[in-house]
Amino acid sequence: MKTDDIRQAFLEFFKSKEHKIVQSDSLVPMDDPTLLFTGAGMNQFKEKFLGWNVTYKRAASSQKCLRTGDLENVGGTSGHHTFFEMLGNFSFGDYFKKEAILWAWEFLTYNLRLKGENLWVSVYKDDDEAYDIWKDVIKVPKEKIIKFGEKENFWPSEAPTKGPCGPCGPCSELFYDYGKDAGCKNQTCAPACDCGRFVEIWNLVFTQFDRQADSSLKPLPSKNIDTGMGLERLASVMQGVKTNFEIDIFKPLAGEIQKMARLTTGRSGQAWQGTSANAIADHIRAVTFAVSDGVMPSKKSAATW
Ligand code: ALA
Repeated sequence: MKTDDIRQAFLEFFKSKEHKIVQSDSLVPMDDPTLLFTGAGMNQFKEKFLGWNVTYKRAASSQKCLRTGDLENVGGTSGHHTFFEMLGNFSFGDYFKKEAILWAWEFLTYNLRLKGENLWVSVYKDDDEAYDIWKDVIKVPKEKIIKFGEKENFWPSEAPTKGPCGPCGPCSELFYDYGKDAGCKNQTCAPACDCGRFVEIWNLVFTQFDRQADSSLKPLPSKNIDTGMGLERLASVMQGVKTNFEIDIFKPLAGEIQKMARLTTGRSGQAWQGTSANAIADHIRAVTFAVSDGVMPSKKSAATW
């Protein structure tokens, strides 16, 4: 399935569930002094999570995202990017955990036809409600439901202890399992292992708190949903390739750069490992979308402005 078709299928699915399809926001958030770039689908909806200006209660988008924090990893791993698209569905005081989980499962297993047996999930360690929905309603076997702490299963990560202040909540993630023969091949391999057997594809955030400066978690006026699924990563699963750089929208770009620059493949001989072409392909996309959203290159460093 082509990347464009996956994006379309996602938006159509949530339209059929009465979501308003909202355009991607600019990569440069206009009214948010706390952010340099848009890094998640929820950024443009922050005020709605706080209960302000809620003119619609359900939304879905494919958001352009720029995350500079991963810059050093790009090209050297199978799935890090600076620029990527995040598919997301959102509820502002409307549906909550049960529908978010049911629809995520329905979209992946019915619309995209991924096999349920290849999916694992994680929940926040104290979130018995999400755990029970996965176990009793979706019927995911207990051994495929993992409990993690606030580093992995709170969004933003570690928000209760470290911040930032603002809307946050426990989350539940879905992982695609490439099978026992992939990665480290260890019998006990599970989503916490970074060998590559498991790839995290979707993060369902149950946004129900407003973290305060004194670290307290104040309940929001209503309970909300914020989900994020990396389009390029999902495309790699759907297209049966091991890295994001081999999907339909990346391969021609990285291939052309490789040819033009006469680059060889990485140390291990695998096309993606350590290849500069993949990093350049990623950066070209990031720069192109950033410039088209008004970011102009300059010789001045930010520190001298
Ligand atoms: N806001 C959540 C994330 O970026 C969905 O992972």
